Amino acid sequence: MALLEIKDLRAYYRTEVYGIHRSVRAVDGVSMELYPNEIYGVAGESSCGKTTLIKVMSGTIKPPLQIESGCVLYNFDGFQVDMANVDPDNLRQNVRWKEISYVMQGSMSVLNPVRKIMRTFEDIVGTHEGIPDRRRFVEETRDHVRKLGLPADVLDLYPHQLSGGMRQRVAIALATVFHPSLIIADEPTTALDVVVQRGVLQLLKDIQAESGNTVLLVTHDLAVHANVADRVGIMYAGRIVEEAPTQTIFHAPRHPYTQHLISSLPVIGDKTAKASLSGAPPNLANPPSGCRFHPRCPYAMDICLTQSPELLPVADRHRVACHLVTESAI
Ligand SMILES: Nc1ncnc2c1ncn2[C@@H]1O[C@H](COP(=O)(O)OP(=O)(O)O)[C@@H](O)[C@H]1O
Ligand code: SF4
Ligand SMILES: [Mg+2]
Repeated sequence: MALLEIKDLRAYYRTEVYGIHRSVRAVDGVSMELYPNEIYGVAGESSCGKTTLIKVMSGTIKPPLQIESGCVLYNFDGFQVDMANVDPDNLRQNVRWKEISYVMQGSMSVLNPVRKIMRTFEDIVGTHEGIPDRRRFVEETRDHVRKLGLPADVLDLYPHQLSGGMRQRVAIALATVFHPSLIIADEPTTALDVVVQRGVLQLLKDIQAESGNTVLLVTHDLAVHANVADRVGIMYAGRIVEEAPTQTIFHAPRHPYTQHLISSLPVIGDKTAKASLSGAPPNLANPPSGCRFHPRCPYAMDICLTQSPELLPVADRHRVACHLVTESAI
């Protein structure tokens, strides 16, 4: 059974300035499923809606963001939660941290700058489960960070005393205290240099392999997905335009946008100029009609200007939203 089923999700930022209403259609018709024991990568250029999608998944929706329609259903062990209609108390007490945890870029938002790391663990564990025996709690926390390959002494430091990579590892250690069913990581390594990045990603991979939970990894960096993800979903302008096992995305992409992303990846020794896409990513307050990629697509046809292509299966576990591909598959 799927851990998470999202059906036709729409989530918009609705603002009003001087009486002028504006809605940014950041997530606009996303359907996808996440399964236990997989790492799912979400890729796509900046502003395509990746962070908005995970705000909805993690239940951290705040105005001006609102869910317009759709279903975001979790099947946890023994209970279900629809993020579109969840009771905030239930979310706080039973879901956040315990079933879903969220590792953000930079990690400072979860680490309190004026408190030692141990105090942040104490806050989170204290709020969710209480700490009846402090000595035991300290011992277990030290064991937990040691298991993740961190020196237990980091717990006695302040966040600013740690390197960026170490802070990110601490954020992952915090995210895994309750062994959640889903760990969501939003650009977790974007601010880090490549060598440090590798260590942080390896940590996420090791945790996933050991616990068999689900990791949703969001990054614009395709090289990271190639190394880490089992499946990849490519987002463009608020929608998933292609989804497939990682090997397929990299070796047999079908959507013209995915093909462009893959062909523009650097190859060692290849000095030929890479073709760039014409035009800019669309404005999500006023997205193009039909296929949102049509103004930039070299294969655009008449139908692409008026009809939005559905994300349809073209092979086992491979879905594509493109008239060219799905018509030729019929
Ligand atoms: N608080 C906000 N108010 C209005 N628009 C927003 C807000 N946050 C993000 N957006 C817009 O939503 C779109 C998607 O943003 P985001 O989900 O952050 O994309 P990504 O994570 O892929 O870079 C962008 O056009 C962005 O400008
Ligand atoms: S639907 Fe049309 S415009 Fe969109 S990617 Fe396919 S061919 Fe290009
Ligand atoms: Mg983002």
